[in-house]
Amino acid sequence: MAIISSKKQPPEPNGQPKQRRESAKAPSKENILQPEAAVDEGKQEESIRPQRFADYIGQKDLKDVLDIAIKAAKSRGEVLDHLLLYGPPGLGKTTMAMILASEMGVNYKITSAPALERPRDIAGLLVNLKPGDILFVDEIHRLSRMTEEILYPAMEDYRLDITIGKGSSTRIRSVPLAKFTLVGATTRVGALTSPLRDRFGLVQKLRFYEVDELSKIVLRSAQLLQTPVTEDGATEIARRSRGTPRIANRLLKRVRDYAEVKLSGEITESVASEALQLFQVDPCGLDWTDRRMLSVIIEQFNGGPVGLETIAAATGEDTQTIEEVYEPYLMQIGYLSRTPRGRVATKAAYKHLGFKPPNEQLSLL
Ligand code: ADE
Repeated sequence: MAIISSKKQPPEPNGQPKQRRESAKAPSKENILQPEAAVDEGKQEESIRPQRFADYIGQKDLKDVLDIAIKAAKSRGEVLDHLLLYGPPGLGKTTMAMILASEMGVNYKITSAPALERPRDIAGLLVNLKPGDILFVDEIHRLSRMTEEILYPAMEDYRLDITIGKGSSTRIRSVPLAKFTLVGATTRVGALTSPLRDRFGLVQKLRFYEVDELSKIVLRSAQLLQTPVTEDGATEIARRSRGTPRIANRLLKRVRDYAEVKLSGEITESVASEALQLFQVDPCGLDWTDRRMLSVIIEQFNGGPVGLETIAAATGEDTQTIEEVYEPYLMQIGYLSRTPRGRVATKAAYKHLGFKPPNEQLSLL
């Protein structure tokens, strides 16, 4: 089944349709800092997911760009341009697509590239789209070549080209499609082929959230979950959430359990910090693999540069997870830099892990 989720907006009055893997060597524990959604997390996320731009905290630049695109498309009575959203997991790409649909007053369908293995999977979705609908394709860098080639005329000319017959009797039949908007999401924009990337009118990046933005998200979610939390309690959770709302909301739920079981139920700064210490989430949100990566670079390779493969072997993580999940956050907080010769641990990383930075060691010599 190619569709993961779809939603029809309630009809408008005019009758128009409204439209972590734990490494082998890592201590075995639930990885609450993994930014990918856990299998059973979707439904829980749904209950606190913002529905409109007005409720969506952060990503101001992106919201400004999309707000203009929406107003322009509406005033011309046209569909929204195809949009490519990229950035690390857990930052709200799916949420943004759903909000776009509700702001445009259209329906959406959500799917993911691995669910579109056969040409008929994408064809089935495309022919059922109504004018203005949003088709959200997650992990779009993983589309098969054949599926991608079906998308080219669909995106450009709203046309589905079907190949009939084999060999010398092959013919192509074109089926007109409703004008729709493709919203693609990827953690690896560089892995998209240029013909596909070039067919998106808008290419936008989601960035990590600031602590004050995450703190507001935690306060909002706590209110929806009817959980008492102080501002300092929310900030303590925000600080340890790796710039990622999905992690902030997950940590909020774990801290809520802790506060209910152990204490009075209110999440204060000390309750949050006690609980998160218990769950082995450090004050900067680093977990076992982050710390292992940095300590390998520092202890075994003098701070680097070290190749990605070496780091992968030392942590038991695959290179892709390191590049897409661990490194972006470590670089964002200034603990790691990528150089052409390999990865280097920064002075701040030395200090965080309790090592003497290299030039201070030199000055002692
Ligand atoms: N929950 C998850 N992401 C959010 C965001 N950006 N704003 C408000 N609530 C959220």
